[in-house]
Amino acid sequence: MSDLESIQTQRLHLRPLTVKDAPALYAAVNDFDVIKMTATWKWPIDEAFVRGCLVKWQKGRGKTQLGYGIFVDDVLIGDMGGGIEVHRENGQEVIFIGYMIGKKWWGQGYVSEAVPALCSALWSRLGPYDIYAEHFFDNPASGRVLEKCGFRHIGAAPLQWCEARQKKIPGEQFMLKAESAL
Ligand SMILES: CC(C)(COP(=O)(O)OP(=O)(O)OC[C@H]1O[C@@H](n2cnc3c(N)ncnc32)[C@H](O)[C@@H]1OP(=O)(O)O)[C@@H](O)C(=O)NCCC(=O)NCCS
Repeated sequence: MSDLESIQTQRLHLRPLTVKDAPALYAAVNDFDVIKMTATWKWPIDEAFVRGCLVKWQKGRGKTQLGYGIFVDDVLIGDMGGGIEVHRENGQEVIFIGYMIGKKWWGQGYVSEAVPALCSALWSRLGPYDIYAEHFFDNPASGRVLEKCGFRHIGAAPLQWCEARQKKIPGEQFMLKAESAL
């Protein structure tokens, strides 16, 4: 793995994850309060499930997606990433991002510090796409992170399936224009 793929922010080290990181990522995020805020992760999770996600991310890394582990003092606290998708409402190619960290690290500004670094990396590696993010209605902290990182609230998101909760859930949608990269 080249050093160019690692990013240092003021307090965080961000680097691509490999399958070897599965036990640490599992330990960090194995909490229903974390997983229920994601669309695609099942509940309960186990180490094999996390390993499967990491294999998938590693294979897809490059032209259309990019992801990082978030480390504080060498401890893996969570992950984040983004990939090019066709927006289901406007039909444009955009980048969608997602992120999660373990509960004991919430509220210390870590994800607000990590997201701008992620967006810069996505623009430089994947191209100048508008970046989108969504959060479920009961996750205002995620909306606040996005606002703090310069995203604009653009309204309600279409109902989205939540694998952990096994139901469709309303949410909110945010966008950061590609021009912000200039
Ligand atoms: C949402 C999440 C990413 C936030 O990460 P974090 O590092 O704790 O976020 P930060 O500390 O950078 O910022 C959180 C902001 O939300 C605010 N906040 C927290 N709870 C809130 C609430 N219930 N209502 C409104 N704002 C809230 C905080 O006060 C802070 O804003 P401030 O700096 O203006 O005070 C983290 O809680 C998490 O990983 N949750 C589980 C997974 C998840 O939700 N992923 C995102 C899916 S869209």
